[in-house]
Amino acid sequence: MTRCRLRKKYHKYKTHDENIMKNFTLTLHIISMCLVVGTLFLQSLIVVFRLRLKKQEEIAGVKNVQKRIHKFIYYPILGVTIVSGAILSNIIDIFSQAQSNWISLKLGLLIILIIFGILNGKQIQANILPKKYAMMVHIPIFLIGAGMIYLATIKPF
Ligand code: HEM
Repeated sequence: MTRCRLRKKYHKYKTHDENIMKNFTLTLHIISMCLVVGTLFLQSLIVVFRLRLKKQEEIAGVKNVQKRIHKFIYYPILGVTIVSGAILSNIIDIFSQAQSNWISLKLGLLIILIIFGILNGKQIQANILPKKYAMMVHIPIFLIGAGMIYLATIKPF
């Protein structure tokens, strides 16, 4: 086999492996980001629902479950989303592509989403909270999540 054909064969296997890696990481990234946005959406809504409860035992029970979800599901899955996103950026070499401004805005929104995640954690701990403040965390989480998904799928700029 000539050197040229060997090189072509090597290149073919390399792109094939890269495709498998990209597809796997993209699947992981999408499932984990769905869990991040979904968990935050529901956790911030449950903070609102909790305000309606009257019995102290019920409030303590819901609070306990929420604290565990925040610590053992939300934070680890956020880590998976960030790591899989970083690996994807590296595989497709996103920053050298012509149309890559969407990723910068998406990362900016990610920082705001993380801040709202921290606020949500504080609201989970709080015993007394005006409903207005709970809604002021719940609604932006929905809008920021939708904005990030729009940017990543449509890639408008
Ligand atoms: C909660 C946070 C995040 C959300 C909601 C999110 C959302 C998404 C979605 C929906 C896609 C699929 C786009 C498609 O294939 O149509 C995607 C892909 C991607 N995301 Fe994220 N993402 C998040 C975090 C991150 C982070 C932290 C990074 C970088 C460090 C990142 C980098 C990427 C890259 C490079 C792609 C592949 C784009 C392509 O296929 O061209 N993401 N993201």
